Amino acid sequence: MIKIGLLGLGTVGSGIYDILTDKKFMIEKCTNKKVEITKILVRNLNKDRNIVVNKSILTDNPYDIIEDPEIDIIVEVMGGIEEPYKYIKQALENGKHVVTANKAVLSEHLYELNSIAKKSNRAILFEASVAGGIPIIKALNEMIVLNNITEIKGILNGTTNFILSKMTEEKTDFSETLKLAQDLGYAEADPTDDIEGYDAARKMAILSSIAFDRVVNINDVECRGITEISAFDIDFIKNFGFTVKLLGNASVLESNLSAQVEPVLIDKNSIMANVGNANNIVLLNGDIVGELQFYGQGAGKNPTTNNLV
Ligand code: NAP
Ligand code: HSE
Repeated sequence: MIKIGLLGLGTVGSGIYDILTDKKFMIEKCTNKKVEITKILVRNLNKDRNIVVNKSILTDNPYDIIEDPEIDIIVEVMGGIEEPYKYIKQALENGKHVVTANKAVLSEHLYELNSIAKKSNRAILFEASVAGGIPIIKALNEMIVLNNITEIKGILNGTTNFILSKMTEEKTDFSETLKLAQDLGYAEADPTDDIEGYDAARKMAILSSIAFDRVVNINDVECRGITEISAFDIDFIKNFGFTVKLLGNASVLESNLSAQVEPVLIDKNSIMANVGNANNIVLLNGDIVGELQFYGQGAGKNPTTNNLV
């Protein structure tokens, strides 16, 4: 039996609960073991939830889970930085494997958490922390076995891509479209992280750490968001055959990292310009394989949950 402790039961946490219930048979066939979520951390035990969960497994005390000797795997999907960092660290030290979708924690503590995991002979896995449903961490880890990565480029935030796409195609209002992205479960708990570009910068830091084998955190990524882009700007540049996208870019030149996330004007007929809705695209350039492009849903319950599980 594999026992799982879930930290968080929001958009992603409820997706995990549903998949581990609905697809139990397939997961157990693959692992050859029974798999069960035995405890779930939430902030508010009395909240109305649109998911049916046995209330007796809910707790508002993280240590009920982290200190439970019977739990094998901690899945952290609560968001934030300081608290989840503390819990992940302690869980690894307590001999538990950790799976997390938390790019905010990873973009500051990836190196340290990886070291603790190695020392404890446990795994920390974070596929869903970058680009929602796209299995980009796996692809990148396979690529670096043979390739020097010369460039990473892409649209790494679903919320801002959704907003910019809707403002371009349907002339919608910024605030209303952000509200819609929140309702659809794409945005961070504090959507400032999305619209100011911090979320994409964190993802770029994680990819860069792996690709360039060095410690990279959010402060190493120059970052500008989309809050200064008006409907007028979008309409104006459209007349000249351009569209605006929040693009990330990272490369290393003479051992100096150059990494940015910023709104960029691109040819409206290019592949990137046509990445709509909350989709993401990631381009990885390797010296042997050349350019590879990965495309898919970049945010939301189902794609993220799929990648995480
Ligand atoms: P969310 O909907 O806000 O859910 C957060 C959950 O964690 C809630 O159940 C909340 O409890 C619980 N929680 C938060 N702080 C807590 C605390 N201090 N103590 C106890 N419980 C706490 O967030 P989400 O969208 O699922 O995102 C979760 C994580 O996944 C974040 O790190 C996010 O960046 C990442 N992620 C999200 C997506 C996406 O598309 N949404 C995609 C990739 C990665 P209550 O329910 O009681 O409030
Ligand atoms: N808020 C994030 C986004 C969730 O919109 O891309 C997926 O990481």
